[in-house]
Amino acid sequence: MSYTLSFTATDPAELWAETGDAAAALVAGEPDGIANMANVAALIWQAIPDLNWAGFYRFDGTELVLGPFQGKAACIRIALDKGVCGAAARLRATQRVDDVHAFPGHIACDADSRSELVVPVIANDRLVGVLDLDSPRPARFTADDQAGAEALVARIAAALALPAS
Ligand code: SME
Repeated sequence: MSYTLSFTATDPAELWAETGDAAAALVAGEPDGIANMANVAALIWQAIPDLNWAGFYRFDGTELVLGPFQGKAACIRIALDKGVCGAAARLRATQRVDDVHAFPGHIACDADSRSELVVPVIANDRLVGVLDLDSPRPARFTADDQAGAEALVARIAAALALPAS
């Protein structure tokens, strides 16, 4: 099976809707959460413009651990009281940061990053991890991007959770 995907929307909300549809189709029927994270990170990297990092951190019960991603090699472990990712995981709330340099405790994995969007992944009330998107452009992420990323994550969160055994 090949995945030849193309995205035609130029409006951000429509582009996220297309990306969400493609993500839901990609993960359908696949129980391996890491495989699904890998494909969804690649999909977002392909579909959403102006990113320098796109991927997942998984919650191991104590802290966040680097998961599948696209972009430069990144910090492996993030405590919940650290960084934008830690805040999203701890508060279970999306963090949309226009200027990462103004965010107390921001962790600069890639010096090119200027703005960041981190969406917590929650399945059955359990924290699975976070989706982290970074951009080299200040204030890259709008309310439409946030809504689109949250909707995508909500659709596929269960498929990102690791198998029970
Ligand atoms: N900037 C993030 C760390 C992860 S990297 O951006 C990939 C943070 O402050 O949590």
